[in-house]
Amino acid sequence: MKKRRILVVDDSRACRKLVKGLLASLNANLEEASNGREALDMVLENRFDLIITDVDMPEMDGVELCKNIKSFPPLRYIPIIMVSSFDSDKDVSRGFEAGASEYVSKKTVRENLYERVKSVLKESDFARDKTILVVDDSHSIRLMLREGLSMSGFGVVTAKNGEEALEILRKVKIDLILSDIHMPVMNGITLCRKVHEDPLINTIPFIVMSTDRDRSLMKKLHSLGSDTYIVKPFNMDSLTILIGKLLSDHYLLLLKEKEQLEMERNMMLASISSLILALEAKDNYTKGHSENVSAIASGMVSLTGADKDEIEVVRLGGILHDIGKIGVRDSILLKKGRLSEEEKLEIMKHPRVGFNIIKPIPSLGEVTSLILYHHERFDGKGYPEGLKGSDIPFWARIMAVADTFDALTSNRPYRSGYTEEEAYEIIHESRGTQLCPDAVDLFFQWISDQKTKKRIDKPEEKILK
Ligand SMILES: [Fe+2]
Repeated sequence: MKKRRILVVDDSRACRKLVKGLLASLNANLEEASNGREALDMVLENRFDLIITDVDMPEMDGVELCKNIKSFPPLRYIPIIMVSSFDSDKDVSRGFEAGASEYVSKKTVRENLYERVKSVLKESDFARDKTILVVDDSHSIRLMLREGLSMSGFGVVTAKNGEEALEILRKVKIDLILSDIHMPVMNGITLCRKVHEDPLINTIPFIVMSTDRDRSLMKKLHSLGSDTYIVKPFNMDSLTILIGKLLSDHYLLLLKEKEQLEMERNMMLASISSLILALEAKDNYTKGHSENVSAIASGMVSLTGADKDEIEVVRLGGILHDIGKIGVRDSILLKKGRLSEEEKLEIMKHPRVGFNIIKPIPSLGEVTSLILYHHERFDGKGYPEGLKGSDIPFWARIMAVADTFDALTSNRPYRSGYTEEEAYEIIHESRGTQLCPDAVDLFFQWISDQKTKKRIDKPEEKILK
């Protein structure tokens, strides 16, 4: 995890030393300033994750420092903890009014500071990667909410009406919607309905805000899918707490769904792996073929700058690409002589059979096209659909090269395998006819990288030669 940067502000060197000592076990760089003015200069030049400040200091006190930071939008996200020996209710409220996140009395600093710092950092991390969409036709309300929410660390985007909001929702990842009801062009009711009809965005928590007289409308909105409503005018602190709660509940729910999906996927993969093992047990010649294709194809894809999820899709696609052969009769799959036309047609069904085996598993959705199209040819003469050129998904074109190479170099019932050099030549000759030129180039790039790696891993071989 990235090291945090914390600024400790106090005119007493002993107090700064004490605070730094209390926080020594945090993964943080602790820097010092001796008054508010010096701290403000440092904060303007460097990015800090937290400020811990004394209140009573010369030149600029802690309350002034806090007000200055919170009134400057680019700095507003920085949480501030005030540590002071002035701890009457009046002092504490002055601190909170200035925008402090926490107020710790110097009398209890040894017992409380460490835990408060941890909790403030956790809250600010949580808020920092969350974006709230504020939808209201009133400029002053949009401004007030933007300022208030960004002070708690949230990212805020605003829209003047429902139509603008939908436009933003199509382009920006939004974590929560806060919407007015009465707006021109598209009101909050239509917006709420449209959001909840769209499967891509209908899980985003939706808060409705309106005036007291709209209560019956708010109830209607609740039935349309809004999570909760607030009555204007509202208190910014309560709204922030409500948003934090909705977001953390929502986050936990998503996490649970993700875990469940992951569990289901692993269980399905375990049973499919058994099918692959069963297939390889009956067909000795394809033993290890799935792993080889998977390793070559995912290695090739990783050279394209694909992210780890895409590489994983191809890795799984390689493992599963021939799963449909489980449906091919043994007398054909294991036949030593040449196949008849009828038998060839039977074998050619395996991409579609494999596709049908994997299709019902939602978490393997992206893998299905690799299974279905791994025997398509670049010139359109492949099967099962005879797709041509770029109509074949690129990952499937890559899989076809990896599959061809491994098939050529392994022993088959009807012939013994080619050498690697012979296989390279055949692949090169198939460039632009059977195989996609880009995928073939990527294959040779991968082969060359593998050879370089081998030379680096085993330099002694080079010396011996
Ligand atoms: Fe195949």
